[in-house]
Amino acid sequence: MKVLIVGGAGYIGSHVTKWLSQRGIETVVLDDLSRGSRAALRWGRFYEGSCAARPLLDRVFSEQAIDAVMHFAAFAYVGESVEKPDLYYGNNVAATLSLLDAMVAHGVLRFVFSSSCATFGGALRLPIDETHPQNPINPYGRSKLMVEWMLEDYDRAFGLKSCVFRYFNAAGCDPEGEIGESHDPETHLIPLVLKSLAGRGPEISVFGTDYPTPDGTCLRDYIHVNDLAEAHRLGLLRLIESGRSDDYNLGNGNGFSVREVIAAAEKVAGLEARVLSKPRRPGDPPALVGSSAKAASILGWKPRYTDLEEIIRTAWNWERTKASS
Ligand code: UFG
Repeated sequence: MKVLIVGGAGYIGSHVTKWLSQRGIETVVLDDLSRGSRAALRWGRFYEGSCAARPLLDRVFSEQAIDAVMHFAAFAYVGESVEKPDLYYGNNVAATLSLLDAMVAHGVLRFVFSSSCATFGGALRLPIDETHPQNPINPYGRSKLMVEWMLEDYDRAFGLKSCVFRYFNAAGCDPEGEIGESHDPETHLIPLVLKSLAGRGPEISVFGTDYPTPDGTCLRDYIHVNDLAEAHRLGLLRLIESGRSDDYNLGNGNGFSVREVIAAAEKVAGLEARVLSKPRRPGDPPALVGSSAKAASILGWKPRYTDLEEIIRTAWNWERTKASS
């Protein structure tokens, strides 16, 4: 089986590429390297360019007998999406439309899509399952929901079958240390905390200390990137076997506050953090915790990393690898 991984040089895309390659699935990566890293391109054939470029997609689909496409190439910063919605609708929606149209034209009708818990907006109840209303509160979440709607319509009209995954907070790195999280600029909590602890970044800013949560800081559900990778493998197999579209939330089911994450990272690193309280960051919902009961029952998915410190340890190892290189 051969899978085209769009965005395979990025954080989650590269971990999924490695995971699948090591499990007998041939991978082909398409990435424009605008946010991905060339160093993460270690598995399978690589095509450089955007999925908005139809001639390139025509070439890839003509040269490679692709059985399914996994799509990770999106901008994923909530704050940036509030300031630059044009980027988000252009890259996350319009470019994805171009990819779907090329797939339909070439008869490639299986699609695994990286959606987000940001499509739910403010939680009406926790944990959030697949039946929770989707009312995104920022352009990033809206851009992901728009693609979910497009997929429903493309299934009905063109028979394009999809597996939609809504990730909660992807975290951690390849435990073998070959690849990791290297965003530029970095905005995610765990890598920023670890950078600061390693002496390679400024003090840690806590965005918002007056949320209606136990310690006043936001709650998030951190899920290891390799657990996400395994969900993609299982979701792909299910998509092929069932021939029908489906959607799954992927999280650990536990909410950790920003302060708890900092405390766990201090424990892993054995160092004390320098922390500043800052105002809320626009677009941040107070609490997002997922229910993955559906992925467990239908896909047989069970996260292996359930301990926050264990997740952070894999990221700390990566941070130290970078510090020493
Ligand atoms: N935070 C800080 N200080 C920082 C960085 C983050 O306090 O320096 C806080 C944020 O305000 C938030 C929490 O830490 O409350 C987690 O923030 P991240 O930026 O690490 O992650 P987000 O929850 O904003 O974003 C992630 C994914 C998005 C996804 C979103 C859903 O990156 O793709 O979860 O909420 F849409």
